[in-house]
Amino acid sequence: MSKTSFLVTGAGGQLGRALLAAGGDIVGVGHGELPVEDRAAIDACLDRHRPRFVLHCGAWTDVDGCEADPARAELVNATGTANLAAACAARDIGLVYVSTDFVFDGRATTPYVEDAAPAPLSAYGRSKWHGEQALLAHGRADFYVVRTSWVFGPGGKNFPKAILNRARSGQPLAVVTDQRGRPTYTPDLAQALLDLCASGTAGGVYHAANKGDCTWHEFAVAILAAAGLGDIPVGTMTAAALARPAARPAYSVLDTGKLDRAIGRCLPDYRSAIERYLQAEQNT
Ligand SMILES: NC(=O)c1ccc[n+]([C@@H]2O[C@H](COP(=O)([O-])OP(=O)(O)OC[C@H]3O[C@@H](n4cnc5c(N)ncnc54)[C@H](OP(=O)(O)O)[C@@H]3O)[C@@H](O)[C@H]2O)c1
Repeated sequence: MSKTSFLVTGAGGQLGRALLAAGGDIVGVGHGELPVEDRAAIDACLDRHRPRFVLHCGAWTDVDGCEADPARAELVNATGTANLAAACAARDIGLVYVSTDFVFDGRATTPYVEDAAPAPLSAYGRSKWHGEQALLAHGRADFYVVRTSWVFGPGGKNFPKAILNRARSGQPLAVVTDQRGRPTYTPDLAQALLDLCASGTAGGVYHAANKGDCTWHEFAVAILAAAGLGDIPVGTMTAAALARPAARPAYSVLDTGKLDRAIGRCLPDYRSAIERYLQAEQNT
């Protein structure tokens, strides 16, 4: 019998923290306590906690770092997920693996549905996709891949924080206009993951993101306006001019209809999520 309902990996990260803050019967294990590349550590952890579901948020999310060290990206993001999937399957434990819009190449012009063909542009995207495949190979009804995008949340290292820090320090701002996606607020995503587990809906791939899509530039403008800094000019630039080591998809808008139907609602608009994010940061 399960001792606890949910075990969260990567509990010190943005999403992990939001899951723990959601309350309920949830135990978190951070990177130091459970490095997911260590199968023996996973076995011991699952035997100790005996959760009904593992919510797998632990990942190497440094996209440019992954590009420089693809073997480490594979070890953490793909082998780590394969380890968890095998250990969960052996114990009849459900698994939710949080994956990414970066599994897509961004050439689409309409929102990506769950069965659109992945074609990752980066080592990070490839490693996350390989993690998806390892989980789905088990074909279990309680194994879920939940792809999300542009994640931000209280206490995290994220885009809104970077924009606000730069604006407040008086540095000039220039933000990319030729990448479009859906921002996702960690407390909203956390609740959606918990609701998905409770729904008993069929396992497989789901997409989760807040309502609405934007470019990074539009996101920055909305963040500054919500923070009362709307008079600060935001210059424009192209992704090519930014010249980051790893390529990112130009268009990674996720179609979330399947999750919306499974949990009976869509996640709130990203602009309301920005307001709640600012309030939460103020209270910390
Ligand atoms: N951030 C985004 O924009 C975004 C977009 C789409 C999908 N996602 C996915 O969403 C999930 C949560 O992302 P997030 O924003 O919460 O990321 P995050 O803040 O970087 O948190 C990831 C956590 O995983 C831990 N971790 C790293 N290597 C690990 C390992 N080998 N074993 C166990 N834990 C390890 C990290 O610990 P250390 O910091 O100590 O290394 C960190 O606490 C990830 O699966 C990510 O791929 C994120």
